[in-house]
Amino acid sequence: MEPLFKGRHFITLEEWTKPEIDKLLEVSKTLKYNFRNNIPTPYLTNKTAFLMFFEQSTRTRNSMESGLAQLGGHATFLDTSMMQISHGESAKDTAIILSSYGHGIACRNCFWGIGNKYLREMAAWSTVPIMNLQDDLYHPMQGLADLMTIQEVKKETKNLKVSIIWAYATSHKKPISVPLSQILLFPRYGMDVTLAYPEGYDLPDWAIEKAKINAKENGGSFRITHNMEEAYKDADVVIPKNWGSWVTNQSSAVIDDLLEKNKLWKCTEKMMVLAKKDVSYMHALPADRGNEVEDSVIDGPHSIVYQEAENRLHTAKAVMAMTMGDK
Ligand code: CP
Repeated sequence: MEPLFKGRHFITLEEWTKPEIDKLLEVSKTLKYNFRNNIPTPYLTNKTAFLMFFEQSTRTRNSMESGLAQLGGHATFLDTSMMQISHGESAKDTAIILSSYGHGIACRNCFWGIGNKYLREMAAWSTVPIMNLQDDLYHPMQGLADLMTIQEVKKETKNLKVSIIWAYATSHKKPISVPLSQILLFPRYGMDVTLAYPEGYDLPDWAIEKAKINAKENGGSFRITHNMEEAYKDADVVIPKNWGSWVTNQSSAVIDDLLEKNKLWKCTEKMMVLAKKDVSYMHALPADRGNEVEDSVIDGPHSIVYQEAENRLHTAKAVMAMTMGDK
């Protein structure tokens, strides 16, 4: 397979054109077929990548680690608390040195106001692709897998009614990067996107403005509502998920008065009947079961969360196969 995008950083999907994203999706679909049919895909034989994690992960770490092995290479997992970063070593020095040892660097850094800047600083100095495994603003690997899943299940995305809905959770103060990536990406594929949340959980103004532009340029639409029922009504796809009030409140405390006021923002069977009969329920996972969503919904017939999670593997492999390669 020709690594068409050799050397390209993968920090946001906004920096990738639609034809480029389509190519990544085409490769993801081929890699999925090959994986399921035990067809070898040795596109990165003897290539190595470093996976730096400032936070916990199940899907992202393992899709990258297994994915690179399946491509014939090797990934080194790096817990950043065990790196010299914890003694203050700079992003610049880390990027220069790790890029002299391998063929790619992937990083998750979700610290508010820091994560994306950290990745950009590494990208400025790295001689190999920097891959964003989630930062404070973007989660492009998730966005790509979500788009692949919607295309698989719904086929046509034009004017598909997709509702991204805030949900109550107490597990941790989650980043805004999943909904932010979705509101930017989905309108580019002609979807009619509704963003629903209680007052106080705003996404950044610049992202809202860009989502509107992306919709206008691609025949989709974008609107905001603070009414949960309205967001479920007639939706083809619902994505109820928690995110933190980072834009208005930078405290990392999980539970506060604003959160507790909005306990009723839960995805329930009662809400799901408002949507189309064949509505799909999505969640990037991990889900805060019982708070964000009722078990009967996430385990029910509308849920496509495991397909969505599986597609993290195939899309991660596509990104690595297409960006990493000979130095
Ligand atoms: N969706 C997602 O990024 O999962 P992890 O946090 O487990 O990697």
